[in-house]
Parts: sequence; C-alpha cells; structure tokens
Amino acid sequence: MRITPSILNADFAQLGAEIGRVPSADAIHIDVMDNHFVPNMTLGLPVVESLRAATDQMLDIHLMIEDPDRWAPQYAEVGAESVTFHMEAAHAPIRLARELHTQGARAGIGLKPATPASAVADLLGEVDMVLVMSVEPGFGGQKFLDLVLPKVAELRRMISADGLDIWLQMDGGVSMETIERCVEAGADTFVAGSAVFGCDQPDEMVAALRRLAEETDKNTGRTTGCACQGSGR
Ligand code: DX5
Ligand code: ZN
Repeated sequence: MRITPSILNADFAQLGAEIGRVPSADAIHIDVMDNHFVPNMTLGLPVVESLRAATDQMLDIHLMIEDPDRWAPQYAEVGAESVTFHMEAAHAPIRLARELHTQGARAGIGLKPATPASAVADLLGEVDMVLVMSVEPGFGGQKFLDLVLPKVAELRRMISADGLDIWLQMDGGVSMETIERCVEAGADTFVAGSAVFGCDQPDEMVAALRRLAEETDKNTGRTTGCACQGSGR
C-alpha cells in the first residue's frame, strides 16, 4: 500500500518546504495542468526541475495536459521516476510508454471517471501503473465518486489474470473516509491531496492512511496468501 500525497493543496509559495513535511510518503504526486485538458493551470517543467533538485523523494508526475506525446518525455528527462499521461489525451500511448521507459521512468496511464477499463485492456503490458480518477480532474478537494469502484475492481481482475506487476492508483477524494472502499476494490496506491495537506501534521495523516489501507487489505485476503484458499479471489 503506497500513499502518494498530492501537492495541489499545498502552499505553492513554498513547495520545497511542503514536500519536506511528508517524509514518509512513498512518492510526491505532482499535478501538471495546462488549462486545456482540464479547466485549471498549475505548474510545469521548470517547477518540476526545481523540485527534483530540492528532494530525493520519488516524483510521481500526473500530466493533465493535451499532447502528452510531446511533453511527457521531458519530465522523465529531468529525473521524475514516474510519469502518468492520460489515455484520453495520448495520440500514441504505446509509443509514449516505451519512450518513457527508454528515459528510465515508470510509465503510468490515467483514466478519467467516465473512461472504461476496456480502453486500456490491451495496453496493460506496456505500463507500470494505471491511475483511476475518482473525481473529474482539475481541482483538489472534490467529493469522491463511488461510481469508479467497479472499474477499479475490473482493472484489478485484468492485472491479476495477466500476472502483471502494475500499480493501481486512485486519485481524487481519497481520505480516511474513502480509502477502505478503494482498497476493497483492488487499488494499492493512493493520491491524497486535501486529506494530507489540509492537516496540521501531514506526515501523520500519510501514516494513518497507509495503516488503514494495510489493515483493510489484510482483511480482504487479497495479498495475504489466502487467494488460493477458496476466497474466490
Ligand atoms: C485532481 C488531481 C488530484 C488532486 C487530489 O485533478 O489529479 O491529484 O490533487 O486532491 P484531493 O485528494 O483533494 O481530491
Ligand atoms: Zn493527480
């Protein structure tokens, strides 16, 4: 179970210091928005480059931009370990995933809430992570959309059936109230923005979210070796 706090709700005037407040995060999730793919604009390559120099933590870039084929490889080039582009925006997702691998980064593919799992079914062998949006992308602090949970379960079944080692990330409205449902559906990596940075002690919230996710995961029996003992999973 991985917790990847989003800095979207952090203080943009001091991002380096904000990242320093979540030392136990598994990665720092950075939301890049271009005001075209989503109706909001955040930050881009120069800021990511500066953050790269400011921290050794894994950088998990979430590109909510048009034409990721053109821009995504540059994020890998400046040293981001993981770069996620959206299925809805990519022109040649297979070529792009391979290019990211060539640059030494993990490749992630993102799905908006209304995009079905079948859109990426044939590409799963090409990526390291699938990001399922559980809000419409563009803003932090929105209400979690339960309607995406069947899609997460479907993706988990596909990943298990193919024996793939892919992270299944959920992004949007993840909190102490919703993370159990996400784990039960089969997610293993969780973006939390307002839940973490809206908290006085953000690193404690990271630990609490991870603890709850791990406890829930244990109870589902999915990764605890019970799968072959008649649980049906
Ligand atoms: C939304 C972003 C998310 C967002 C999550 O478009 O992709 O990463 O920052 O924020 P919360 O956890 O507040 O929904
Ligand atoms: Zn995001």
